[in-house]
Amino acid sequence: MDGISDSVAIVTGASTGIGRAAALRFAEEGASVVAADVNVADGNGTVEEIEEMGGEAIFVETDVSDFEDVQAMVDAAVDTYGGLDFAFNNAGIEGANEPTTDQPMDNWEQVIDVNLKGVFQAMKAEIPVMLEDGGGSIVNTSSIAGKVGFPEISPYVASKHGVIGLTKTAALEYSEAGVRVNAICPGVIDTPMVDRSSGDNEAVDGAIAATPIGRLGEPEEIGDAAVWLCSDDASFVTGEALVADGGLTS
Ligand code: NAI
Repeated sequence: MDGISDSVAIVTGASTGIGRAAALRFAEEGASVVAADVNVADGNGTVEEIEEMGGEAIFVETDVSDFEDVQAMVDAAVDTYGGLDFAFNNAGIEGANEPTTDQPMDNWEQVIDVNLKGVFQAMKAEIPVMLEDGGGSIVNTSSIAGKVGFPEISPYVASKHGVIGLTKTAALEYSEAGVRVNAICPGVIDTPMVDRSSGDNEAVDGAIAATPIGRLGEPEEIGDAAVWLCSDDASFVTGEALVADGGLTS
């Protein structure tokens, strides 16, 4: 992919699943990676794997719902690697499964804080550095739940619809200055989040049956799409919310 080598990329939620796959892909393409997450043990594992393949990475313990942490994550990119070219704002949580009227208030707050405020705060800290450096590219993780409703996860659905709104707005504001901003909307991807939220094999079988491609997505398939959106290969793409769901919402 063009434009990724010798760059600096932040990936949030880089300890497991989609973020880990994207961090490895950025590194494979020659980026120095700032892997950010609340999960320190697995985050160090991501960095070790990148170093074993000859790549360059640091881990920064970051809670994306805390602005001080997010600013420190961006500062670490600048201090360690001299700038910031790309950001994959991907950290997210699924929250509790309850119909809207039974959703606990603290669950609403937690999911919105991580999934929506986390993306807003990341862009708020990242974009000024990119503008100073002459441009960059951001990909925010939404979901097919950012395109359509799903029962019993109203905070998650609201957060992921909100991520698309934030993405389109930032694209309007900063594309002319050289910062493209896109979202990615995965379908059902085989990650620890799906293991936790599907509960049983029946739910996974149901997701597979509803997916025309006939299987779950792999984290690498979303990581690759995110890195592609950041790359110069996608140089005329901004304000887009790219669905990668094996046809589930077609
Ligand atoms: P995952 O659970 O493997 O990865 C999420 C990562 O985010 C974890 O490493 C976790 O420690 C980290 N994280 C959680 N809260 C955080 C916080 N406050 N600050 C920093 N890091 C935090 O799950 P997966 O599937 O890789 O999820 C990645 C993103 O993809 C999420 O935004 C999720 O909503 C989204 N997504 C996942 C889908 C799936 O089917 N797996 C479908 C659509 C979207």
